Amino acid sequence: MCAPEWYDVNYVINPWMAGNLHQSSRDTAFAQWKTLHQHLQQIADVRLLHPRQGSPDMVFVGHTALVQHGVAAVSSFAHPQRQTEEPHLRRWFQDAGFLVWETPRETAFEGEGDVVFDAAGGRLWAAHGSRTCKQSHKHVADAWHTPVTSLHLVDPRFYHLDLCFAPLSGGELLYFPEAFDAASLAKIEAAFSADKRIVISEIEATQFACNVINVGKHILMGKVETDLAQRLRNLGYEVAELNLSEFIRGGGSAKSLVLRLSDMDVTHGSSVN
Ligand code: ARG
Repeated sequence: MCAPEWYDVNYVINPWMAGNLHQSSRDTAFAQWKTLHQHLQQIADVRLLHPRQGSPDMVFVGHTALVQHGVAAVSSFAHPQRQTEEPHLRRWFQDAGFLVWETPRETAFEGEGDVVFDAAGGRLWAAHGSRTCKQSHKHVADAWHTPVTSLHLVDPRFYHLDLCFAPLSGGELLYFPEAFDAASLAKIEAAFSADKRIVISEIEATQFACNVINVGKHILMGKVETDLAQRLRNLGYEVAELNLSEFIRGGGSAKSLVLRLSDMDVTHGSSVN
């Protein structure tokens, strides 16, 4: 995680930031982030990245890389405003002993924002359309010699995959179907049986219901004003709903505030029972 010491909405690179310029309170953001940090510490070993002045979106550390088996594929951000984060990340990973996998500047790739492993860690789902470009998918997957399935995002409100697609440890998928084109939906439906697909409504999706942190049977999520948390509890998950309103103004929620460093299957058990 990276503390919101310099967090602000001071440019517009996604539709949620428009209208929120300089509207967020750094004190409130800090308090909300701290609560998330405390919750995460109960279920994971949390490392912190030093925040940098001039990189106000650095708190959204989930988009800076994708990590698995000690290899960190470092992002090549689409927008110059976030490219300032890259050298700090590269240095952190090198100092921590990770092998750094670079992505060419011309082929944008935004880490866990757009590329995620499935719950078993053997396959990648990668999005393109807004930030990450399709040409980067195979290059990123080559870091682990992993098969990759490309998905096309078509709704500018859901500019990252982590806002509309979340595979859970129990094999379920939270997703907002309208964010994808028909061919991508067919791929999703072929991979997840109907009983495992949890369709998120538009209201839930716009409250970033898919942007959840899932560690084993634990789920940390921002507030969603429907019965979604209860539905997840009914499936056996332990769910904490947190107020992350200041980060919603910047276009993100729980998941985008963390980056996974360890392998999925070695942390706290991978399935719900
Ligand atoms: N302002 C950041 C950006 O546009 C917000 C990222 C949060 N996004 C997310 N996909 N969860 O890059």
